[in-house]
Amino acid sequence: MRVCVMSELAETYDYTNDDCTQTNRPVVPSKSLLLAVWAAGIGGTFQYGYNISIINAPTKAVQSFINQTWTERYNTEISTQVLTLLWSTIVSIFTLGGLVGATVGGTLAIKFGRKGTLLFNNTFALLAAFFMGLSYPTSTFELLIVGRFLTGVNAGIAICVQPLYIGEIAPRALRGAMAMGTSIFITGGIFTGQVIGLNELLGKEEYWPILLSTICIPAIIQLLALPWFPESPRYLLIDRGDDVACKKALMWFHGPDKYHGEKEDMESERVSALGIKPKKPWELFTDTSLRWQLLTLFVIHTFQQLNGINAIYFYADYVFNQAGIPANKIPYATVGTGACECITALTCGLLIESLGRRVLIIGGYCLMSICCICFTIALTFQDYSPWVPYLSMICVFAFILSFGLGPGGVTNILTTELFTQTDRPAAYIIGGSINWVAFFFIGMIFPFIVNGLKQYCFLVFLVICCLVATYIFFVVPETKNKTFLEIQSEFHSRKKLIAANGTEGPLLSTPM
Ligand SMILES: *[C@@H]1O[C@H](CO)[C@@H](O)[C@H](O)[C@H]1NC(C)=O
Repeated sequence: MRVCVMSELAETYDYTNDDCTQTNRPVVPSKSLLLAVWAAGIGGTFQYGYNISIINAPTKAVQSFINQTWTERYNTEISTQVLTLLWSTIVSIFTLGGLVGATVGGTLAIKFGRKGTLLFNNTFALLAAFFMGLSYPTSTFELLIVGRFLTGVNAGIAICVQPLYIGEIAPRALRGAMAMGTSIFITGGIFTGQVIGLNELLGKEEYWPILLSTICIPAIIQLLALPWFPESPRYLLIDRGDDVACKKALMWFHGPDKYHGEKEDMESERVSALGIKPKKPWELFTDTSLRWQLLTLFVIHTFQQLNGINAIYFYADYVFNQAGIPANKIPYATVGTGACECITALTCGLLIESLGRRVLIIGGYCLMSICCICFTIALTFQDYSPWVPYLSMICVFAFILSFGLGPGGVTNILTTELFTQTDRPAAYIIGGSINWVAFFFIGMIFPFIVNGLKQYCFLVFLVICCLVATYIFFVVPETKNKTFLEIQSEFHSRKKLIAANGTEGPLLSTPM
């Protein structure tokens, strides 16, 4: 999933390099584990996905609310530019909040525990729901900006802390499978938001303040459900040194007969963790041996956001409108995109071990390039025949499918695999920050790009997709079934090859 940057943060609590090979044993999680994942996810990444998608339905209603408020307050007509800017801010301030949340989430999780932070995090969602609900009765659209910022902080913390909690309560054999839960909750949240935003439910113009306030519901559900579950046993033991509480939590999750193995794992992790000091983000930048990995991290995370996928999601209605889809059919098309990504999140997980990362991510970007070409042509000739708008819509779906199969899932796994144990937490902070900044950037500029370039805006994304596919083809090695140390040495040998050629820049001179 494109934005679940921190989803493999849980991996940072494996203190050995080889246990990624053990995550695929077919073990079925216990009912208490599944319920705990649900309780953490509902107010966590579900809330995040929900917030991304519910903002689409009230686009028109909120814009006319701003227009009306502005006219009443200042006695002048609002210009289209100012209106676009205000709307873009409401949509995009979410990502600035996310950036703030991502930077404080880790610290909070150490101080208040995983469960404590997740519970506390709901305060932001409740406050946001309160402010956004209040903006209509008080005629202050500024409250929408405040509310969206707070939901962003909520999302930033959730994306960081929820995978930590789930990863730490998961038995070793299920850690990979349960980490998938994070992406499934994001796509599930997106899908739910789209369904709730339908006209038959809360999508009617006059319901938008209620729609935006519904984000309090996942928060309340989590506040009611999560306190019944124990804190992460790993946190209790390794961070708190509380043997008794840890044992109690383990018994709760795994039952009295199975918890011993987990406890041994944890004890050995505790011992090996003693010598390791995780690096700080700035220490990665000064390490010249990591240059290519950092560049790759930068490229895959920046362009995971700037390849057009968020443009399609943030402004899904707008894109379909541009595609000439009749207005009354747009919401159903949007729901379809959500279902589409839900399914591809699952499919990507099934294919990644057999096809490998390179095939999926390069193939994904190539398919997205093709979609961009078809989409541009379809948009240009949309008046040519009544079936052409539906061709545009197929292109949008194909784009989302290609994204979900390739960059959507693979980017996060690559972040885990390109770095060794001590570098990985810092790599996540860097990757996460890049991701939120790029997310903000695309949200702010996309309306202007669309207004300026019309259908040709997807040519920009075409160029981006082609360049990223080329970069990955020449620079990133296949990481499937390799230890982290092997991957690192592949990067090092690449560096020597370049040095031997006597040139620094040309990536193209080092074929895989
Ligand atoms: C604001 O609303 C008025 C009256 O409904 C309308 O004429 C005008 O075009 C709107 N302005 C913008 C920028 O949409």
